[in-house]
Amino acid sequence: MGVKSMRLARNGFYICWFLFVVISVTGFVFSRTISGDPDPCDSMKLREFQRLRSDQITVLINGYSESRIPLLQSIVSSYSGSSIVSSILVLWGNPSTSSQVLDKLYQNLTQYSLGTASISLIQQPSSSLNSRFLPRLSVNTRAVLVCDDDVEIDQRSLEFAFSVWKSNPDRLVGMFVRSHGFDLQRKEWIYTVHPDKYSIVLTKFMMMKQDYLFEYSCNGGVEMEEMRKIVDQTRNCEDILMNFVAADKVRAGPIMVGAERVRDWGDARNEEGEVESGVREVGLSSRRVEHRKRRGKCIREFHRVMGKMPLMYSYGKVVSSVAEQGLCRKAGKLVFCDRD
Ligand SMILES: *[C@@H]1O[C@H](CO)[C@@H](O)[C@H](O)[C@H]1NC(C)=O
Repeated sequence: MGVKSMRLARNGFYICWFLFVVISVTGFVFSRTISGDPDPCDSMKLREFQRLRSDQITVLINGYSESRIPLLQSIVSSYSGSSIVSSILVLWGNPSTSSQVLDKLYQNLTQYSLGTASISLIQQPSSSLNSRFLPRLSVNTRAVLVCDDDVEIDQRSLEFAFSVWKSNPDRLVGMFVRSHGFDLQRKEWIYTVHPDKYSIVLTKFMMMKQDYLFEYSCNGGVEMEEMRKIVDQTRNCEDILMNFVAADKVRAGPIMVGAERVRDWGDARNEEGEVESGVREVGLSSRRVEHRKRRGKCIREFHRVMGKMPLMYSYGKVVSSVAEQGLCRKAGKLVFCDRD
């Protein structure tokens, strides 16, 4: 794993770690490569998650495609201008990107950052989608925002989402939602979009407590191992699995928050397009159908391995303009969202 981080020098522990790596890796070049934590689960075991700072967040943004770099640049720059962002970790998942490009990218990212957030560029050890959820010692905030390189969110909406998370730290908080469902004819679980309920938040914007990274990557024994393997085999569905993990822990569905301005550049994985609650989609392209089928298969597989269906439905969307506390529609009535 390669890390480019400005923050290394600030922390004694990292200096030691850094020196260890310098001696153990041959051909080491300072500006570019530092080997990562050999066993992130092991070193996170003693971490007291409750004591992490909760006034700021860490952004974990996935990058893969070189053609999207300008967009990535713009998203990172925008997040870096928010006072609630402690640091931004760009997780580069494409192993074939040249070191020259990564060097330049890192230079650009730090050059155009707006605020005080520190920025790191981390070359992932493999293209496994599971590695986006690896726990990291450098993440010193309780809350993490996991996001893709395809959606730009305005700062106020980011801050609003964070305030919602702070009152609901055990829930997943997101802006783009999907749903599981049960096909009565086929008698099987499916992946779908429901006009008035949801149970899955996408990693276009997924805010959660850091503990879930540990739960996903390190806990859950052989069952989690098998489910992570399914993610690797299908090269998909790590976001769905995280929803399983969180729902199983908190026994509640995610929370959808509204955004003021969203620029969604689209992602092959989320081909269905965005559906605001209440708006039904008309017509599905065959690619979308394929996409949903694949995701439905993941849901069935996770259900099989877990032996239960932990996903739970939530209703409504929390918005900043109606009231301090969001109102949710449940069984035709408006109720406060955090009330059962
Ligand atoms: C870095 O920024 C320059 C100037 O904006 C741009 O032309 C170049 O493509 C960027 N390269 C990378 C790898 O980000």
